[in-house]
Amino acid sequence: MILYFSGSGNSLAVARQISNKTGEQVIPLCKAAGKDLTDEKRIGLVFPTYWLDVPIAVRELVPQLHLSAAAYVYVVITCGAQTNNAVWTVRRLLRKQGVKVAYCHKIRVPDSSALAFGRDPNQQAWKFERYRSRLEQIIQDVATEQRGLHFSGFDPFGWLLSRPSVAAKTQKVTRPNVNAERCVGCGTCAKICPQDNIVMARNDVLPASATPSAPATAQIGDRCTACLACVHFCPHLAVEINGKAVKKEFRYHHPDIKLADMVLR
Ligand SMILES: Cc1cc2nc3c(=O)[nH]c(=O)nc-3n(C[C@H](O)[C@H](O)[C@H](O)COP(=O)(O)O)c2cc1C
Repeated sequence: MILYFSGSGNSLAVARQISNKTGEQVIPLCKAAGKDLTDEKRIGLVFPTYWLDVPIAVRELVPQLHLSAAAYVYVVITCGAQTNNAVWTVRRLLRKQGVKVAYCHKIRVPDSSALAFGRDPNQQAWKFERYRSRLEQIIQDVATEQRGLHFSGFDPFGWLLSRPSVAAKTQKVTRPNVNAERCVGCGTCAKICPQDNIVMARNDVLPASATPSAPATAQIGDRCTACLACVHFCPHLAVEINGKAVKKEFRYHHPDIKLADMVLR
C-alpha cells in the first residue's frame, strides 16, 4: 500500500508510477490515518518537502498510522532541491511507533512553491530528465525490497526554521488566501484540499436581501499546510498567495496529473 500527500501532483505521480510496477494500492495519507494497517506487509510513504522539512499535515498524520513493525516501510520524498530534515523527521515519527524505515530516497521535480517567489515552476521542467532515471531506480529498489537510507542527515538550520514561532513568520510567504471578488464558488479547491480545510460559505457581509442568490465563497481554515493545490488548480485564479495574485502561466501541476486525479471527496 502506498500512502501519499500531494499539492501539485508531483508526489501523487511518483506514487502512481511505483504502483504501476508493484501493484500496490495508492491511498491519500489522510484516508489511511487512524485505520488498522497492521496486516500490510509493505507500506510506501510518498510526500513532498515543504520548508526544509515534512509538510505540517504529514507531521500530524504519520503519528496516526497503525503499521506493523515487521512491514517493509519505504519513503520517497519529492523536492525542488533538497529534502533537508524531511527524512530525519519522518524516521523519528515512525520510530516513536516502533516502525523502522527500511529504504528512503529523494527525487527532484519542479518546485511547486516557485510562484510564491515570483518564479515559474514550469521553467523547471528540465528536472524531469534526471527524474525519469531516478524514478526507475527507486521503483526497481522498492519492488525488490532493497534497504538503504539515501539522505544527508540532520540539518540544524532546517530544524530552527521549523520551530512554530519562526515558521509562523517565515511561512506566511507561501500561505494561500481567497480573493472573494474572483471566487465564483465552484468548490474545486474544497474538493482537492488534502487537509479538508476549505469550506464554501456565504459572505455574511452581503445585505440579507442578496444572500439567497449570492454564490458561496471559498474560505480557507486554519489547518493549511500550504501545499498550494488550491492555487495551482483554481479555474478562476481566485486563490492568491500571501495577498498577491498569481500569474496564470506560473500555475503548475505534474504533467501526468489532472484535476480529477486530485479530487479527494
Ligand atoms: C510550501 C512549499 C515549500 C517548499 N519547500 C521546499 C523546500 O524547502 N525544499 C525543496 O527542495 N522543495 C520545496 N518545495 C518544493 C516541493 O518539495 C516540490 O515541488 C514537491 O514535489 C511538491 O510536491 P507535491 O506536488 O506532491 O506537493 C516546497 C513547495 C511548497 C509548496
